[in-house]
Amino acid sequence: MAKQADLSIEYLGVKCENPFFLSSSPVGGCYDMVAKAYEAGWGGVFFKTVGRFIADECSPRFDNVSKEDTPWIGFKNMEQISDKPLEDNLQAIHRLKRDYPDKVMVATIMGSTDEEWKELAELVTQAGADLIECNFSCPQMTSHAMGSDVGQNPDLVRQYSKAVSGATKLPVIAKMTPNIGNMEIPAIAAIEGGAKGVSAINTIKSITNINLEHMTAMPVVNGKSAISGYSGAAVKPIGLRFIAQMKSHPLLKDIQMSGIGGIETWRDALEYILVGSHNVQVTTSVMQYGYRIVSDMISGLSYYMQDQGFNKLEDMIGLALPNIIPAEELDRNFKIIVNIDHDKCIGCGRCYVSCFDAAHQAINWDFENRRPSVNDECVGCHLCLNVCPVPDCIRPGEIKYKDESKRIPKDIAFQTRYE
Ligand SMILES: Cc1cc2nc3c(=O)[nH]c(=O)nc-3n(C[C@H](O)[C@H](O)[C@H](O)COP(=O)(O)O)c2cc1C
Ligand code: SF4
Ligand code: SF4
Repeated sequence: MAKQADLSIEYLGVKCENPFFLSSSPVGGCYDMVAKAYEAGWGGVFFKTVGRFIADECSPRFDNVSKEDTPWIGFKNMEQISDKPLEDNLQAIHRLKRDYPDKVMVATIMGSTDEEWKELAELVTQAGADLIECNFSCPQMTSHAMGSDVGQNPDLVRQYSKAVSGATKLPVIAKMTPNIGNMEIPAIAAIEGGAKGVSAINTIKSITNINLEHMTAMPVVNGKSAISGYSGAAVKPIGLRFIAQMKSHPLLKDIQMSGIGGIETWRDALEYILVGSHNVQVTTSVMQYGYRIVSDMISGLSYYMQDQGFNKLEDMIGLALPNIIPAEELDRNFKIIVNIDHDKCIGCGRCYVSCFDAAHQAINWDFENRRPSVNDECVGCHLCLNVCPVPDCIRPGEIKYKDESKRIPKDIAFQTRYE
């Protein structure tokens, strides 16, 4: 077995053995589940959101989005916060911290008034939590005084962050809703209110599928459904974007972020670290595959760090950020024409169809031999390279400069998914 790299990291002053956390959800909602997850190797848990409000869940409450033979591209849930009495949850948090002192326990809370937020902050602090996360972001609460309606209102985010921060000595983390254009606005409000960290993203309001018999959305609950949270692999691009945008804002660049959304593998986790996350949180892929996915995350990230010569996890945080620049600053002075390898080509015709119907009619089709060839109209968009089902069959080829620059091809750094 490969040697394990040092994956430990300090997160808001709390030592974590690794950056892998369960996010607040049914995967970490009671003593036995969290104990099992800790033993499987997770560095910590954001315990399922607790509050005075006790959820009365509907049935069924899940749906998924599939494509061809890939089930679970995206996942919809209509769950709210914990359906257990607050006292039971506090006891579970207390016992877990007592029995696993080296693991990190983040208590996620949600109130509906200043007093409730304060009371919850005091109670989870007494129960022994290391950190507190404020859930400003559940998209399916039955009251507008809670959840993502709060997260879209910077004044309420500031007010409740202040109430919680004033009632505990623990660092407070604000969990953001993606159901908003500019997450920086509520995130800055949370910091102004006293929060020390930001988590993103919670689930995205969605309608996953329409049931054609019942004429309603899925899942169908006695003939009806509701708009509710989308998560899983499909949302990773959105989560990465929000973290990168927040980390690029002058008022948030030094704030520790916790990255969430669609993380299934060590590569997904590392992507969140490279855009500025101190740790990552996972739910949907644990619902699919169980707690054991963390062992591959640990081993994959260890291998990568050793292979790339990184000694500390911290040295990798935000390394991709300087390379994510405004669109107007991209170098637009060249185009990379494609080459087609006729030995690899299976003659499916997808490149021809896509280039003709959606690009620049730059592929000629030999109807007799079923083989494509690139003509002078090619603009180097690489649509064909993305649709070709055979890896390495269509490859980046000649670089054509639009200006008279003296650059040579090796000055141009680019990458396609097959490289
Ligand atoms: C079934 C389910 C229940 C959830 N419950 C909560 C919750 O109680 N509190 C919370 O802050 N987020 C909750 N979430 C959101 C997750 O913590 C996480 O932010 C989101 O699912 C995106 O991560 P993922 O793609 O890894 O699932 C829930 C998600 C799911 C799928
Ligand atoms: S790179 Fe774009 S324009 Fe060129 S052949 Fe491929 S799809 Fe057509
Ligand atoms: S998509 Fe690829 S395999 Fe299919 S015809 Fe074009 S080059 Fe050949």
